[in-house]
Amino acid sequence: MTRVVVLVSGAGSNLAALLTAHDDAAYGARVVGVVSDKASAGGLDIARAAGVPTAVVAPADFEDRAAWDRGLARSVGVFSPDLVVSAGFMRILGAAFLDEFGGRTVNTHPALLPSFPGAHGVRDALAYGVRVTGATFHVVDAGVDTGPIIAQTVVEVLDDDDEESLHERIKVAEREMLVAQVGRIARGGLRLEAGRAVVGRGWA
Ligand code: GRF
Repeated sequence: MTRVVVLVSGAGSNLAALLTAHDDAAYGARVVGVVSDKASAGGLDIARAAGVPTAVVAPADFEDRAAWDRGLARSVGVFSPDLVVSAGFMRILGAAFLDEFGGRTVNTHPALLPSFPGAHGVRDALAYGVRVTGATFHVVDAGVDTGPIIAQTVVEVLDDDDEESLHERIKVAEREMLVAQVGRIARGGLRLEAGRAVVGRGWA
C-alpha cells in the first residue's frame, strides 16, 4: 500500500476525493497524514472527520523560510510517505523539503502549464482570454509550477465565466484527474527519465 501525505492550505475538496478513493483497498494508496501551513484550513477538518492524523506547520512559528521548510520536511517525514501530494497547498517547497521528498512530491495546478503558473492560474487564464484551460498534475521541482508533467485535463472557458465559476468547473475535472493519477502512481510507481515523468514502470 502506497503511503500518501497530502499538503493542503484551503478547503480540501481534492483531499476529500482522495479520501473517498482510498477506502477501496484496490486503489493502492492510503492517505496516512495531512499537513497544512494554516490551522484554519478546511482540509484539516476533512482529515480529522476521516480519522486521518494532521499536523500544522505555520511559517509564523519559524525563524525564516528555510527553517519552516525544514520543519515541514520533519512533519511530513513523521508519516513515512512514499508519495507527497500537494493539493491546494499555497506555498513553494524549498531545498530542504525537496532534498528529502523530491521526485516523489506531486502537485495539482488549476491551469494548463506551462501557461499561467503561480497563485492565480484561473484568474490569469480568464484575463488572457484563452478558450480552453484546465488543470495540470506534475512532479514538484525547485521552480514555481515548472516540474515534469504527469497529466493534464482540459476545461472549456465559457463566455459568461467569472473566476469562481471557471474554477469550480476546473476543480471537478481536477479532482477526477488527481484521483486517477495518484492511483496509477500508487500501483505502478513514479520515476523521472530524461527529465520526463514516467508512471507505471516502478519507483526511481
Ligand atoms: C485547486 O484548484 C488547486 O489546484 C488550487 O487550489 C484549489 C484547491 O482546492 N491551487 P481544494 O482546497 O482542494 O478544495
